Amino acid sequence: MKKNNKIFIETYGCQMNFSDSEIVASILTNDGYELIPNVLEADIIFINTCSIRENAEDRVRKRLYYFKSLKKKNPKLVIGLLGCMADRTRLALVEEEQLLDLVAGPDSYRHLPDLIRQISKEIPAIDTILSTDETYADISPVRIDSNGISAFISIMRGCENYCSYCVVPFTRGKERSRDAASIIEETKDLFEKGYREVTLLGQNVNSYRWTNEEGTINFAQLLELIAEVNSRIRIRFATSHPKDISDELLYTIARHDNLCKAIHLPVQSGSDHILGLMNRKYTRKQYMERIEAIRRILPNCAISTDIISGFCEETEADHQDTLSLMEWVGYDAAYMFKYSERPQTLAAETLKDNVPTGIKDQRLQEIIQLQQKLSLERNKLEIGKTVQVLIEGRSKRSEDHYFGRTIQNKVVVFSKTIAQPGDLIKVKILSVTSATMIGETVES
Ligand code: 5AD
Ligand code: SF4
Repeated sequence: MKKNNKIFIETYGCQMNFSDSEIVASILTNDGYELIPNVLEADIIFINTCSIRENAEDRVRKRLYYFKSLKKKNPKLVIGLLGCMADRTRLALVEEEQLLDLVAGPDSYRHLPDLIRQISKEIPAIDTILSTDETYADISPVRIDSNGISAFISIMRGCENYCSYCVVPFTRGKERSRDAASIIEETKDLFEKGYREVTLLGQNVNSYRWTNEEGTINFAQLLELIAEVNSRIRIRFATSHPKDISDELLYTIARHDNLCKAIHLPVQSGSDHILGLMNRKYTRKQYMERIEAIRRILPNCAISTDIISGFCEETEADHQDTLSLMEWVGYDAAYMFKYSERPQTLAAETLKDNVPTGIKDQRLQEIIQLQQKLSLERNKLEIGKTVQVLIEGRSKRSEDHYFGRTIQNKVVVFSKTIAQPGDLIKVKILSVTSATMIGETVES
């Protein structure tokens, strides 16, 4: 064991970032470090950051000032910044604000042990170079805060879609897929350790492509191979881009009971004018055609989305187009955001962020209110049905209740039975809110 080896990792941002923190944990524990849950006992603090919206960056900055205050008691404390903020903010955070001893970008995690050794010589250690082929395929993640039932598997990295609002192509670099065999091995390993659900992650999983001597595997084929690892493990995935979600993929999902009937299909806006400015590469009509395909091939599938309010040049009519499309689709759930201009992006360089904050807020509120109504309507359709639930653990609100999820990714709360987390159980839905369903177990 090393001296000063206690590491605390705090993560912000998307599921991909949480998955990255598990890769970081693996690299460091293999090098003799110990991962600890209490920041006050740490020798090294890593903060894995997100740049997607300005407020995500603001939160990180606040935390860094708090971490710096801990140095008064422990002058040897090392503070490192990982992830999407690494490249853009390193100058300000390292030189001007002197908050950091180490900075590592998303493709530099293998170098962390070396970088930590460098700082012991009192030089801030920085590596933010993006790679074209790093996928961490051979690294077996150390699960953090795991419930032992569900886990993330990262299947590709980077993004080359260049949506005009989005910073990800700049923070995470070129798109690259991970070796299919290593993904299947990781799934098998998780199953053997008792996991019963995996979520395959990538910025745009539909463009997954892996080629070796035997040929090329696309995302639908990968999904089928993973579904066949064991019928008792559920498979989810995120995120799909509407421009390339294929019928082949939908038919594959239909063929396997353990492939989840839940598709996250970010629409961002319902207006063709705004979709064009966003460089989304589909029209409202094309998006609707994809939703129709999902409803036709997977009639019982839940659909969720991401929506941005107040993008550049958005008029009231554009906003109404978004609301009407939401109604038409009847989303089960949505992540809803106010547009925030990000440096380097096409929108920052070529468009005016000209919707006043008050209007962005007001439109966002209307979007959120509508979505609550839609979620409730969709959940009401489940009342009286008996559904299969994967038990994840004890309900946060009550010791006597479990919670779990349906194959559609809906949360269900019900009284504890002899069944255990990780078991599949039949539950009859009795009542619902827009966020949760309440049920009772049914003898099978
Ligand atoms: N402003 C607001 N929301 C954004 N998103 C991405 N970039 C921005 C931005 N600059 C949202 C999109 C995306 C989700 C992950 O975050 O809706 O799908
Ligand atoms: Fe994830 Fe994007 Fe945030 Fe990076 S910027 S952590 S890719 S959401």
